[in-house]
Amino acid sequence: MHTDTSPTLLITGGAGFIGSHLATELLQHGYRVRILDNLTPRVHGPERQRPRHLDRRVEVVVGDVRDPHRLREALDGIDSVIHLAAVVGERSSMYQIEKYMSVNTSGTAVLLEALLDHPVKRLVVASSSAVYGEGLYCSYNGAIYPKIRRSPGQVAKGDWEPRSPDGEVIYPLPTPEAKEASPLSIYAVSKHDQEEMCRVIGESYGIPTTILRLFSVYGPHQGYANPYSGMLTEYTFRLLQGLSVHLFEDGYQQRDFVSVYDVARAFRLALESPRAGGETFNIGSGRPHTFWTVADRLMAITGRQDLSPEITGAGRVGDIRHCIADISRAREALGYEPEVSLEAGLLDLVAWIKADIAERRMVPASLKVPASSRLRV
Ligand SMILES: NC(=O)c1ccc[n+]([C@@H]2O[C@H](COP(=O)([O-])OP(=O)(O)OC[C@H]3O[C@@H](n4cnc5c(N)ncnc54)[C@H](O)[C@@H]3O)[C@@H](O)[C@H]2O)c1
Repeated sequence: MHTDTSPTLLITGGAGFIGSHLATELLQHGYRVRILDNLTPRVHGPERQRPRHLDRRVEVVVGDVRDPHRLREALDGIDSVIHLAAVVGERSSMYQIEKYMSVNTSGTAVLLEALLDHPVKRLVVASSSAVYGEGLYCSYNGAIYPKIRRSPGQVAKGDWEPRSPDGEVIYPLPTPEAKEASPLSIYAVSKHDQEEMCRVIGESYGIPTTILRLFSVYGPHQGYANPYSGMLTEYTFRLLQGLSVHLFEDGYQQRDFVSVYDVARAFRLALESPRAGGETFNIGSGRPHTFWTVADRLMAITGRQDLSPEITGAGRVGDIRHCIADISRAREALGYEPEVSLEAGLLDLVAWIKADIAERRMVPASLKVPASSRLRV
């Protein structure tokens, strides 16, 4: 199919937020890139067009990862696969159970069956920190708590911090890959399924398989206009519209926000590292930040310090309190090092959303290109 000898990669879900950045990263490092994506309306809007920011050199196969025929077509001539296609977001997974399990779990099953007939050199899978549920905690005296869950009664009382079985408040620690999975949403269950299925098939059939557990990824091209996007895009969008952000609970929850540029590089390193096969890695920034901190920084960057956050004082079903990444394994085995600071990443995010809002208002409808079933560009 190809005349040059560059490795050709297939990214499932490659038209999405992370996939489009990853495609750019891989093209810049000499790979040929094909994606398989059904351009789902939830992410791409009702017109389901090829995203304009997706590099023109990317070959697009429009199709569903659950369609074995389309998948086989997409795998033709492929050396390695990066599996990103998924329905994303925890809250809606709690009522769209069949949809999440169908796309994420069954979709992965169909992909793995196709790989049995089309062996690849490497399979890299996007998992999520959601598989941990709550992160790792310790008590004041140093006792470790790997499997903590706040009861609905505790959250309803506004008693936000997790407690040991003795009722003592406990403190978050960086969470290593060895912490046992404890999914608290259907999305997390489906990501854990993906991990286990890929691990078992990879080991059984000798496909070097790497799982990347991504923490809270943010950056340009994350869909800020849909309710399933990341919270930083949502906060920024609200502030730019003159609306204050809503902080659930008391706003002191901690997360690890990682730039999509660092995540894209982590995927490439996982693909290239001889030590990555059969391994699972956390991919984060390694730095915890509270929701308050990021809201405060975004208010400063957007010049909207007048819009004080609204503290809801309410918890939400399935929300965790803290989960922060221990990235020492990825550092050591992949040579992964986060390069984008939160400040630089937020400046970039705000600049992109501002420009995107301005551009969307200007693009004439005649410039929109319909998606064909298979585009070669
Ligand atoms: N964004 C994050 O913070 C984050 C965190 C942890 C893990 N992840 C994982 O990273 C991966 C990519 O996430 P993202 O943020 O880019 O999401 P996204 O929604 O922007 O991209 C997902 C892509 O998959 C496509 N897709 C959905 N269903 C499909 C199907 N049935 N067949 C083919 N394509 C389909 C969508 O059209 C979309 O282009 C997902 O597996 C997600 O679970 C993301």
